[in-house]
Amino acid sequence: MSAEGGQPAQPADGASGSDSAGSPEGFGWPAVSYELAVNGSPQRVADAWIGESLLFVLRERLGFTAVKDGCGEGECGACTVLMDGQPTAACLVPAAAAVDRAIETPEVHAVPRPDEVAAALAAHAGAGCGFCLPGIGMQLRALLARNLKPSPAAVREVLSGHRCRCLPPERFAAAADDAAQALARGHEQGLAHVPAQAGARTGEQAGTGAGAGART
Ligand code: FES
Repeated sequence: MSAEGGQPAQPADGASGSDSAGSPEGFGWPAVSYELAVNGSPQRVADAWIGESLLFVLRERLGFTAVKDGCGEGECGACTVLMDGQPTAACLVPAAAAVDRAIETPEVHAVPRPDEVAAALAAHAGAGCGFCLPGIGMQLRALLARNLKPSPAAVREVLSGHRCRCLPPERFAAAADDAAQALARGHEQGLAHVPAQAGARTGEQAGTGAGAGART
C-alpha cells in the first residue's frame, strides 16, 4: 500500500469529522466523510482515515487505478493528476484537503476514446511498460492547455519530475509535438477533446459517462 500522505490533516470545508470509531487499527486517528469531484462526478468517501492520501483514496477507495502508485514520495510523477487544472502529485496531498477541488484523472481522457495526448503517447511510447504514461499524459495535457506550441525545452522541463526506465526522453518530446498538432487541428475543426475540469466543480458532466466510466 502506498504512503498515506504524511501528517494527518485538518478536514477541508465540506469534510465532516467523527470520533475515532472507524479509525485504522484502533489507533484513535480521526475518521472523516467527504465528497470529491473526480472527472466531473461527485464521489463519496465515507469513514476514511483523515491522513489518507489522494492517491490512496482515488485508487483503493474509488477505483481510479489509472493513477499509478510509484514511489509514494513525490519523486516519480506516476501519480500525477490535475487539481483545478494544475499537475499535482496525488501521493503528497491528503484527500480530505482536496474537497472542493476539481480532480481529473487519466481515465477521463481514455474512454470513450483516447484523446490526442493518449493517442500520441501510445504511438511514440507504446513500446515501454506504460507505467509512467498516465502521469506523463496528465502533465502534457496541462502544458498543452496553456501552450499549444511548446518548445522542446519546455517539454523537457515539465517532464523532468517524471521517471521512465524504458524509453528516451525524445519519445515524449515527439509525442508532445504530435499531440499539439492534433489538438491544433481539432481546435480548427471544433473536434478537440474538451478538458473535464470545466464542469468538474459543478458536476455538470455527472452522468455523461465522462467521469466514472473508465477504470483501468
Ligand atoms: Fe507520487 Fe511517485 S507515486 S510521485
